Amino acid sequence: MKILLVGSGGREHALARALVAGTTHELYCAPGNAGTAALGKNIDLDQTDGAAIAQWARENSVELVVIGPEAPLIAGVADAVRAVGIPVFGPNADAAQLEGSKAFAKNVMAEAGVATADCFPCHTMAEVERALTAFQPPYVVKNDGLAAGKGVVVTEDLALAREHARACLEAEGGAVVIEDYLDGPEISLFCISDGKKVIPLAPAQDYKRAFNGGEGPNTGGMGAYSPLPWLPSGFTEEVVRDVAQPVIDTMAKRGTPFVGLLYCGLAHTAAGIKVIEFNARFGDPETQVVLPRLKTALAEVLLAAATGQLQQVPPLEWSDQAAVGVVIAAEGYPGAVTTGGKISGIAMAEMIENVHVIVAGARENAAGELVSSGGRVLCVCALGDSVEQARGRVYEAVERVSLRRSHHRDDIADGVEGVCF
Ligand code: AMP
Ligand code: GLY
Repeated sequence: MKILLVGSGGREHALARALVAGTTHELYCAPGNAGTAALGKNIDLDQTDGAAIAQWARENSVELVVIGPEAPLIAGVADAVRAVGIPVFGPNADAAQLEGSKAFAKNVMAEAGVATADCFPCHTMAEVERALTAFQPPYVVKNDGLAAGKGVVVTEDLALAREHARACLEAEGGAVVIEDYLDGPEISLFCISDGKKVIPLAPAQDYKRAFNGGEGPNTGGMGAYSPLPWLPSGFTEEVVRDVAQPVIDTMAKRGTPFVGLLYCGLAHTAAGIKVIEFNARFGDPETQVVLPRLKTALAEVLLAAATGQLQQVPPLEWSDQAAVGVVIAAEGYPGAVTTGGKISGIAMAEMIENVHVIVAGARENAAGELVSSGGRVLCVCALGDSVEQARGRVYEAVERVSLRRSHHRDDIADGVEGVCF
């Protein structure tokens, strides 16, 4: 099968591995990165230009388009590809609003009867003041726009909460959502859907804060592991029954069926499972630890979803092994970063049993050297017979990789009991 994968991050390198592993599929990535270049052919297309992607896919007889990041989904790339009759894994722009607009997601959840944090959408500072007095600290203040996981401030500090709300409102068309703090471990559960049926993947946990012990600002994610040995049995089935299926059914009823990956960001609170957020795509870096554990060929499952055939897919098969991934970030991340730093040691790291290095923000320079080109540069991943064994391997490998002044967390998958920040 000819597959076109849209995107250029670590998630796309992980998707690329899973799409081609053990198959003869022909993979193209638009635009891809130094990691995907080793697995297929990178094509120089703007990932948010739906017309160009649809045209390229048609001219090159692509049989499946897989869209990785949120920006192309929200820009309508899936709509453009569907319009030319090519199967696409990824929701249309109107369905991607589940991620693009917090207020939209809250409305769908209310309609579907899905448990989530109480919230106040605000358009003025007067509304912000009213909302902040209605809740106890910690305050949760969310930019109601597309902010790649970085538009949220969770703080005990009222002044800081106010300041973030003001900054969100001052942006063009600014809106902010203030909500109740959900107390409990966070879980990411990816659900594949063809618009009707839901097939869950294995749960994972992501470490959002920049520094050890949950210090520092929120990031896109600094590391992840899967499975979660501390989860009660039946957790995944409960999420499908109470969260994913009702949302998929509601989206279909509204006339905006969701075909793609519904990422359920959940909190396991004393009052049960509650939704923190939805994303309309695979999570990054959770994908890097979920997909290496999947034994079923991914491309066939995504094609079945894209063509409304999930009913025909046999139960997914999973490895018993655990996976841990640690992100190596450039100096300054999640703020402004310096790029162009030389990366070395990947081959040495990959000499450790069951270790592989995912490329995120890195490219080859004119001299053929691998240099950093983004905030999250690499994700070092390891499999092991237990989370502890995978963790031991991954940190041994991290020590072998070098990028000047980079930073990573030392506590990914540490003391695995669901307590993670
Ligand atoms: P979001 O952009 O909605 O994914 O939020 C980013 C991160 O902020 C989440 O992964 C949580 O760690 C935190 N967060 C968001 N909403 C809440 C909430 N209501 N209660 C507790 N933490 C939250
Ligand atoms: N790791 C969080 C996300 O992908 O949004």
